[in-house]
Amino acid sequence: MCGIVGYVGKRNAYPILIKGLHRLEYRGYDSAGVALLNPQGTLHIYKAKGKVADLEAVAKGKDTTGTIGIAHTRWATHGEPNEINAHPHYSESEQLAIIHNGIIENYAVLKQGLMQHGYSFKSETDTEVLIQLIEYTKNKDRLELKQAVQLALSQVIGAYAIAILDKAHPDTLIAARKGSPLVVGVGKDEYFLGSDASPIVEYTDKVIYLEDEEIVVLTQGKEPEITTIDNVPKTPEVKTLELTISQLEKGGYPHFMLKEIFEQPHTIADAMRGRVNTEMEKIRIAGFIDNKERFMNAKRIIITACGTSWHAGLVGMYAIEEFAEIPVEVEYSSEFRYRKPVIHPDDIVIAISQSGETADTLAAIQMAKAKGAFIFSICNVIGSSIPRLSDSGCYTHVGPEIGVASTKAFTAQVCVLIMLAMLIGRAKETLSAERYRALVHELERIPDKISTVLKQNERIQDIAKEFRYALNCLYLGRGYNYPIALEGALKLKEISYIHAEGYPAAEMKHGPIALISQAMPVVVIAPRCSTYEKILSNIQEIKARKGRVLAIVTEGDEEVSKISDFVMTIPETEECLTPLLSVILLQLLAYHIAVVKGCDVDQPRNLAKSVTVE
Ligand code: G6P
Repeated sequence: MCGIVGYVGKRNAYPILIKGLHRLEYRGYDSAGVALLNPQGTLHIYKAKGKVADLEAVAKGKDTTGTIGIAHTRWATHGEPNEINAHPHYSESEQLAIIHNGIIENYAVLKQGLMQHGYSFKSETDTEVLIQLIEYTKNKDRLELKQAVQLALSQVIGAYAIAILDKAHPDTLIAARKGSPLVVGVGKDEYFLGSDASPIVEYTDKVIYLEDEEIVVLTQGKEPEITTIDNVPKTPEVKTLELTISQLEKGGYPHFMLKEIFEQPHTIADAMRGRVNTEMEKIRIAGFIDNKERFMNAKRIIITACGTSWHAGLVGMYAIEEFAEIPVEVEYSSEFRYRKPVIHPDDIVIAISQSGETADTLAAIQMAKAKGAFIFSICNVIGSSIPRLSDSGCYTHVGPEIGVASTKAFTAQVCVLIMLAMLIGRAKETLSAERYRALVHELERIPDKISTVLKQNERIQDIAKEFRYALNCLYLGRGYNYPIALEGALKLKEISYIHAEGYPAAEMKHGPIALISQAMPVVVIAPRCSTYEKILSNIQEIKARKGRVLAIVTEGDEEVSKISDFVMTIPETEECLTPLLSVILLQLLAYHIAVVKGCDVDQPRNLAKSVTVE
């Protein structure tokens, strides 16, 4: 979703801003723009529909000087993606320029009021309304820009991260946030601004995370000045980034997605590091230890998440119910937040989010918290909004995930949920000591088993060629692998634009069986597990109707392999851990189908990595 970059210092801002925009491309966007202010107070804005490279082409040969600037990648909400709607936006007098992430919900009312005061609008955006409101407020009461921003923001309903330039102050940048993240990078005599740390990391590892309703004034040569919208001064808390530049680069892989798929033996090990101890035959998760009684006494666990994280939640449901015998409900955050859910004090709400910024999940936990629920979050981005709002939690520690289609974050989320389920189960003694120990040892073997699975990469590339012309695809699984059928179908949809559906295998009879033909490949996840015989029958049903089956089986399998058209294998493991292996094959399958179809794997059309609007 939209990305923000800013710079205040002595260097030429343009190359820093453009590089920053490239770093943010992974978030998904459809237009881009930059505003540059030079010490004489000349402000230049360049914008383009399309990619950052299109913006560079527009700015080529033009005046790109200026030691202060703001830049933006836009993911359209109000108004189609075009040059006019792209940010930055000028105010009426062209004295001010703004970039904005988020949505101003009451923009229509504000716009009407401003039109009555003679303001006109060039774009269809809510952002232009905001900068006009700021200018109107500033001029009406002859205020300083900061005061005008504070007053204007106090009238705004919605979410925002904004950065503003003023021709009258060519050494100062003002930024503010509510509901959309904003990070200030603190360099030597210079400041950087980012909607996340990726545009900042190559210049400094010192950052300040702005809190909701805070405004920062960044002036070259001065300390950052932070206040709330109500003008209460705040002391900036400078933190050290853990992010490194190499984590943001492809490291020889053609796409971030492939790099991230291949990182999984390491990222799963990282998610378990310091947590799984095979010598002691124990698991340790600090967020669990601190709240052990609460978990043991929980009457219900509600998992809330979106997209791929929601699928991880489903796997978690199977594990928590099996090991801890606690009823689990898995909710789409967007539905949960608008229902009137009954939440008891002994319920636990687990929020799962790679980015830690997904607007619906954030709102869902705000609602659950207000109703007295205890919030435990499983997130990847350290210091992001969801973990900060939670009572406790556990990071997945997979490093930055750049590919829009989530891969390594998913497997780590599943791994953390299984560890958590084991811990609750052991504490409640619903999971026997013997089984617990066996699972601890098997968890430790998972990274190597993922490496084994990855060896099928070339074969999957060949299978992908067979599937490239499919218009529809069905994914079937049962038990722990039903969520993997959903996830496999989502991966294919996201990056290859082939329509795909995931289904519980036995449900096929209640509808999708009508679609079976040679033209629609059916992917069946059929490892040796408790429902093996059942799924074998499901495959027979498909074959009887001349369907083409790609099966995922356990190494050494004969029965399913014999009747399937294509076979991929996973090593033998505990049933609850099979998703960690089967999903890798489906990630690779989706990846190779997308590549062979010529799709933009890392930045699929219309999708955003971090969905910060509802
Ligand atoms: C977007 C991303 C998905 C992700 C979902 C939830 O749709 O493209 O990959 O699963 O948001 O994001 P979260 O950061 O909350 O896990």
